[in-house]
Amino acid sequence: MSPPPRDPAELAELVATRRDLHAHPELGYQEHRTAALVAERLKQMGCEVRTGVGRTGVVGTLAGHAGAGRTVLLRADMDALPIQEAGETPYRSTAPGVMHACGHDGHVAIALAAARRLAASRREWRGTVRFAFQPAEEGGNGAEAMIADGVLEAPRVDAVFGLHLMNTLPVGTIAATPGPIMGAVDLFTIRITGKGGHAAMPHQTVDPVVAAAHVVTALQSLVSRATDPFDQLVVSVTRIRAGEAFNVIPEEAVLMGTVRSMGGRPYAEAPERLRAVATGVAGALGCGATVDYVRQTPATINDEAMTALVARAAAALVGAERVLAGQRMLGGEDFAFFLQKVPGCFAWVGSANPARGYDAPHHSPRFDIDEDALPIGVDLLERVARESLR
Ligand code: NI
Repeated sequence: MSPPPRDPAELAELVATRRDLHAHPELGYQEHRTAALVAERLKQMGCEVRTGVGRTGVVGTLAGHAGAGRTVLLRADMDALPIQEAGETPYRSTAPGVMHACGHDGHVAIALAAARRLAASRREWRGTVRFAFQPAEEGGNGAEAMIADGVLEAPRVDAVFGLHLMNTLPVGTIAATPGPIMGAVDLFTIRITGKGGHAAMPHQTVDPVVAAAHVVTALQSLVSRATDPFDQLVVSVTRIRAGEAFNVIPEEAVLMGTVRSMGGRPYAEAPERLRAVATGVAGALGCGATVDYVRQTPATINDEAMTALVARAAAALVGAERVLAGQRMLGGEDFAFFLQKVPGCFAWVGSANPARGYDAPHHSPRFDIDEDALPIGVDLLERVARESLR
C-alpha cells in the first residue's frame, strides 16, 4: 500500500518541531518551554486552551462545526529523562543530563500536527476533540494529575487514544492490541534489621547482609513457584544497600525493587506474598524485616471495540499486513489511568530502522527514531479521531 501524499510544508514543520523539542528536553513537571510552545501553537489553530492542567500540562479543545457529538481525547506525553545524550545529531540535547530518550518529543510533534489538520477540517466533523499534552509520564503519574484537574470533564470525554513511538517495531508498522498491553508498576522497599558488630566475630552479630542475600534469592520463587505459568509476573530487586566498611557487619540492609504484572491474581496477591517471603526468610535468620509496598501505575488495558477501531484505521493507512496485534510488555505507562476511566486504546507506532541506525532501545543514551514514523502517527491520530466522532 502506498502512503498518502504528504504536504511538504506540514512534513517540514513536523520534523522541525520534533527536533526543536529534542534539542530542548525537560524533565517531568518542568516542561515549561514545551508547554508554552504547545499552548502557543494550539491558540494559533483556534483551540480553546487551558494551561497548568496537572501542573505543567496543556489542554486544547476543538469543537467541530458539523454539529454536536461525542468527545474524544488524544493524549501526548511531553517529558524527557535524566540521561546524558550520547548521539551526535545536529538536534542533540542542549540540556546537560536531560534527553528525550523515549520519543515523547515525537509524540508532541505528532499531536500538534494532528491538531492542525483537525482544526483546518472542523467544518467536516462533529463533536469535540480534546488534546491532552501531559507532563511527567516517566514515573510522575502526570496522567493522574491531569485527570484530577478535570481533563476528562466539561465536556465529558467518551473515548481516549494515545500512541507511543516504538523502537522495537519497524517503521511502517502499527500495533493495536486489545486487553492488557503494559504492566502494572509496583515499587517495594524491604528494610532488614539485624545486630551490627565485628566482621571477624559474626556469632556476636545478627547479619542483615546474609539475610538480604537470602531474601533476594527467595523472592525469585514468587515467579517460579507461586505463579501460574500462564500468568505474567516479574520481580526485580534493583538496589541493595548495606554497610560501609570491610570489617563491620552493619545493623541494616535495604533492598529496593519493582513488581510488574498484567493485573488479575498476580497483581492482587503480590504485596502479601512478597511480605511473607521477606519477613519469613529474614526472620528465619534472626533479622526483622519491614516492607513498604507502593502501587505506582495500574496495568494498561485497551478496550476491545476502541482497539478494533484503531486497527481498522491503521490498516487503511499502512495495510492490514503491517498492523500488529499481540504486542505486549511489562513496562509501565500512565495512560493506564485514562483507560481506567474511559474506554480507549494505546497504540504503538513502529519507529525502528536498523539499516539507518535507528534501533537503540528506549531510555538508551543513543535512542533516536526514524522520523518517517512521525507522519504515520499524525495520520493515525487524525483518522482515529475522525472515525470515533462519526
Ligand atoms: Ni515513553
